[in-house]
Amino acid sequence: MGYEIQKIFTAILVVFLFVFGIGKISDFVFKTEKNVVSYKVEVKEKTSESSQKSDLDIEAFLAMGTVDHGKSTFKKCKACHSINKGGKNNIGPALYNVMVRNAGGLTDYKYSKSLLAYGKKWTVEELNGFLKKPSTWIKGNKMGFAGLKSEKDRASVILYLNQNSDNPLELP
Ligand code: HEC
Repeated sequence: MGYEIQKIFTAILVVFLFVFGIGKISDFVFKTEKNVVSYKVEVKEKTSESSQKSDLDIEAFLAMGTVDHGKSTFKKCKACHSINKGGKNNIGPALYNVMVRNAGGLTDYKYSKSLLAYGKKWTVEELNGFLKKPSTWIKGNKMGFAGLKSEKDRASVILYLNQNSDNPLELP
């Protein structure tokens, strides 16, 4: 009889260890998988961001444009934007001093939520991406403009925007 009880206890112990052990193992596997997945996502985001940035050779890009051509290209923007010093907001925000100002940075213009939340400055890279295709560069913004397909047009407009500023940047 004592031997039978011992057998039952052993059986219970084995079952207990088994269940507990599986739990631990699956915990371990699950956690490891989760770590691997989030790690992958992070790496992917970082690479795509940095490749977007490093794609643009600013010097070569700006060399394609001229301020004069920018002035004439800006006619496409004039329906919605002023560019002169003291110019008013129109359908779009006033663009004097826009270079390196915070996106959505004017306090007297009612921006879309997505532009307000964007949180970046208008650098050459950002303006180039935005002006190429505004709708995809900042999703949900309300600039009703298809974009400037030509690199020369974009480079020129950026040079022109930079010139219409109290402190034009020294661009390469
Ligand atoms: C049909 C009207 C329209 C045209 C044309 C247009 N824009 Fe805009 N633009 C807007 C509006 C509206 C906004 C504000 C977007 C928002 O709040 O989401 C804006 C925002 C901007 C901003 C962001 C400014 C800031 O203060 O953050 C820049 C830069 C800009 N436009 C440049 C241009 C340039 C350069 C052109 C011409 C190549 C152009 N836009 C053509 C309507 C227009």
